Amino acid sequence: HHIAVPANEPVMSYAPGSPERKALKEALHEAKSKEIELPAFINGKRILEGEKVSAHPPHEHKHTLGHFYRGTKEHVHQAIDAALGAKESWAATPWHERAAVFLRAADLLAGPFRAKMNAATMLAQSKNAFQAEIDAVAELCDFFRFNAYFLQEIYREQPLHSPRGIWNKLEYRPLEGFVLAITPFNFTSIAANLPAAPALCGNTVVWKPAETQIYSAVVIMELFEAAGLPPGVINLIYTDGPVVGDIVFKHRDFAGLHFTGSTGVFQQLWKEIGNNITTYRSYPRVVGETGGKDFIVAYKDADPVQVAVACLRGAFEFQGQKCSAASRAYISASIWPAVKERLLADMKTLKMGSVEDFGNFINAVIDERSFDKIAKYIDGEKANPKAEIIAGGGYDKSEGYFIEPTVIVSTDPKSTTMCEEIFGPVLTLYVYDDADWEKTLELVDNTSPYALTGAVFATDRNVIDQATKALANAAGNFYVNDKPTGAVVGQQPFGGARGSGTNDKAGSALNLTRWISPRLIKENF
Ligand code: SER
Repeated sequence: HHIAVPANEPVMSYAPGSPERKALKEALHEAKSKEIELPAFINGKRILEGEKVSAHPPHEHKHTLGHFYRGTKEHVHQAIDAALGAKESWAATPWHERAAVFLRAADLLAGPFRAKMNAATMLAQSKNAFQAEIDAVAELCDFFRFNAYFLQEIYREQPLHSPRGIWNKLEYRPLEGFVLAITPFNFTSIAANLPAAPALCGNTVVWKPAETQIYSAVVIMELFEAAGLPPGVINLIYTDGPVVGDIVFKHRDFAGLHFTGSTGVFQQLWKEIGNNITTYRSYPRVVGETGGKDFIVAYKDADPVQVAVACLRGAFEFQGQKCSAASRAYISASIWPAVKERLLADMKTLKMGSVEDFGNFINAVIDERSFDKIAKYIDGEKANPKAEIIAGGGYDKSEGYFIEPTVIVSTDPKSTTMCEEIFGPVLTLYVYDDADWEKTLELVDNTSPYALTGAVFATDRNVIDQATKALANAAGNFYVNDKPTGAVVGQQPFGGARGSGTNDKAGSALNLTRWISPRLIKENF
């Protein structure tokens, strides 16, 4: 059972007339034609109990996609018991059989589940067809396949010296207990990978998704089930976060947290875990990917067209709701006129509206809370004499949570929207004097508490080197002459440090080792 180095799942084009476009249109139609019940999954059983909540497309909030049921404390206890009950036999399952479940899940996702998974991600998370395909299909297939390959490589590694008469072995055990996965709305692939990666390593998991992602989370559970994942290995519950935390973080068998979400919530959870530290059998593994205030910095010899395209795609794809999204840019004064001209021209071509029209590049932001928060940032800049809104600035929530892609030019490099994470389609630019290049690198490094992604644009090799060194700790994923979004599994392992997370690189062996607790066995002959 050797797993060869996988290839990335090809992204389909959805060109007019293509079979994939037809299948996706049908899946969207099917999903829109009825309201469905979205069950929790505990020990393989579908549960429809608790407070009834409806799910709506962010771009069409008067339409109801279906209902889920916010669970109770009882569901948290049941999910933990199911995870602990499934643990022994799952941990004892040979690694290649565990891997086979996820390899099969990837093939099912690339095949019969493709349209359904994309439709769910598009409708419930307001992701356009192309962004959904990249995330919910291509990236998720890649997570499954590459992680299976990385696990094989980890297990194969026996780096120990054994002198004659002694045999030293490393045994790669899962953690003792269960893992909690708390997952975000913005990537279906991340939501699925956070429970799947520990499970692949032989752990069992309680999974609490964002309420705005439940519609695609249910499809993920159906996929796992179809791939042969045994009941109880991953248990999906919808109980309120604080209630989940209150039970999980007081449980003796809590073994690890796999988290993607906001910096504030992650810090709060870390404190709760710390406060209960004497409760646990082992020190829990705490792995989190959190906020970002990701930058683009362009030197005077950069290609203005490349810079403009990176600003547009980096800031506005999926409405800027990526932890990696470019949200502050520093552009040299001598190239700014050319960057501006191209950026504004390209932005005029962006269409905004429902995901069901594949020509719409911009869709809605995830919910009313996000909408209000982003609108407030935009209003703040409208009233700020040091800021000028050169594109966008409008918003409307009457049909869906639509916010125009907005570009702000600020003469204050430490203004609120240069510093704070907005998580929406807002890019703030600061135009610096060419002579201030070095000062600008310092600004890039010192302006935000985050260090997730960033990009430098320059032609001169010495300048690229200089920026790479000066910004050594400013980003976990650092791009040269490319936008700071769109890391590909197996190519650019993803994660950041400082306020952006524990930098345990999703989609790499480094992440998997966090879900493994090795035992050393020494035997004398
Ligand atoms: N992996 C995504 C990106 O690189 C963000 O989570 O854009």
